[in-house]
Amino acid sequence: MRTAKQLIKDSLLRLGYEVRRVTNEQRDDIPDCKGFTDKEAQCYRAIGNLGELSIEECRLLGELVAKSDPHRPIIEIGTLFGFSTIIIAAFKQHFQELITVDNYSWNPLGISPDAHYTITQNRLSEAIDRHNVRVLRMDKDEFYRTYQGPPPAMFFCDADHSYAATNADLLWARSVGASIICGDDYNLPHEDGVRRAVDEMGGPSELVDGLFVLSTVTAARRIPSLA
Ligand SMILES: C[S@@+](CC[C@H](N)C(=O)[O-])C[C@H]1O[C@@H](n2cnc3c(N)ncnc32)[C@H](O)[C@@H]1O
Repeated sequence: MRTAKQLIKDSLLRLGYEVRRVTNEQRDDIPDCKGFTDKEAQCYRAIGNLGELSIEECRLLGELVAKSDPHRPIIEIGTLFGFSTIIIAAFKQHFQELITVDNYSWNPLGISPDAHYTITQNRLSEAIDRHNVRVLRMDKDEFYRTYQGPPPAMFFCDADHSYAATNADLLWARSVGASIICGDDYNLPHEDGVRRAVDEMGGPSELVDGLFVLSTVTAARRIPSLA
């Protein structure tokens, strides 16, 4: 049985209105939100959670993109809301293809996968329309299984940061001959999956905050020992 309060809320929703107030959880997220309306609290959270790269990480990512072979694609795994995608798009040649893959299984705002995907597509509409960016909604393993393109000029992984997933990401990138292999979150304080996977493959040749570049020298070093 719905209460009177719920019935009023339902009626307002049907008319396109929503009654909300700042929740205790939001108050914890936003230290100084005493005077915030719900809308302001939502904006604070949304804008503060647009992307996960520091400015120094963006600089390194941009440098890597700029030195990648523009005639081959860049592959990004983990689009989220397109923050890193926009950095990559800004530093690549216009004609260079950028494929960004996400299954929209996680976002820091707790919105539905469909809303997450629609918002991200909207955010990336300029990149999609004018900068040769393809936004793929699929699981990364399905993408790896079906990829038929040339060896990527660059592979950037920033999705599932568990050891097994990162290991699989890096092995795939190597198996298809990606020239630059990099990713984020090598320095997560409470999760060492990325660090373990990267270290097992020779460790980072460059590291800025959590953004690592996997040493390409390691691949060359490995060949004699395999022979
Ligand atoms: C850390 S966020 C990406 C951050 C983004 N690169 C940035 O810097 O703005 C991780 C993203 O990976 C996605 N993800 C997690 N597991 C995935 C999987 N198995 N396949 C595809 N995407 C996945 C999540 O939906 C999430 O959007």
